[in-house]
Amino acid sequence: MPLLIDGKKISTEIKDELKITVEELKKQGVETCLAVIQVGDDPASSIYVRNKKGACAYVGIESLSYELPEETTEEELVKLVKELNENDNVHGILVQLPLPKHINADTIIRTISPDKDVDGFHPESVGRLCIGEPGFVSCTPAGIIQLLKRSGIEIEGKECVVVGRSNIVGKPMSILLLRENGTVTITHSRTKDLKEVTGRADILVVAIGKPKFITADYVKEGAVVIDVGMHRNEENKLCGDVDFDDIKDKVSAITPVPGGVGPMTIAMLMYNCVEAAKGQEV
Ligand code: GUN
Repeated sequence: MPLLIDGKKISTEIKDELKITVEELKKQGVETCLAVIQVGDDPASSIYVRNKKGACAYVGIESLSYELPEETTEEELVKLVKELNENDNVHGILVQLPLPKHINADTIIRTISPDKDVDGFHPESVGRLCIGEPGFVSCTPAGIIQLLKRSGIEIEGKECVVVGRSNIVGKPMSILLLRENGTVTITHSRTKDLKEVTGRADILVVAIGKPKFITADYVKEGAVVIDVGMHRNEENKLCGDVDFDDIKDKVSAITPVPGGVGPMTIAMLMYNCVEAAKGQEV
């Protein structure tokens, strides 16, 4: 068996570290606070939001919930975000995506103050990441770097291949791996001979949103494989973008689904909230 990279355990370690910082901030009179906004009642979003609020409670972060009806207008949502931007007691603002079709998500993301952008989706946060300035980093890719580092997996000098080029995972992931001195290739749906490229990877990060897409013939012997996917299969069981059973005997380390990347996303959201609260210390 390869090394199973235990995201549940590592995320708990991070949250336990954050608990201490939150306590210290409290002693200085700063009550770390995250505003969580959900528009409509998409069932998957409701589960994510519940888990995020649960993590806040665990770490000692106050969470303010805004559960808005599906019919909420873009103007109303912009107004709420602007009010939260102005509220000094709120350190982070999270607008759960996807938003209903009549609301432009980009407009909302750009409305969030970059100082409270704990998702790291604002163009200013993305720009800061690209030029190496401090700023909030998208939680899933930041969590993957923590998984690698805390599992003792070196990134420097490694061939890193990212499958998927989304703004939330693929692109920031590639920048973070580059920042750690990896040699980075981004692949996507138009990549010619994907297997040849993924087959070169020492570290392969898969975020393509296709269940069990990556099989043994896509990976090099001894590779480290990080699976960002989350799907339900025919038997209603969770699975990732990687065919775990097919590749497990070929790779040196792999994240399971569930219990790999998923818990790390939330841990890094908590990390960003604490950083936001620290930033607002007077
Ligand atoms: N929807 C799916 N993933 C995310 C995320 O990381 N943040 C937000 N705000 N919405 C999401």
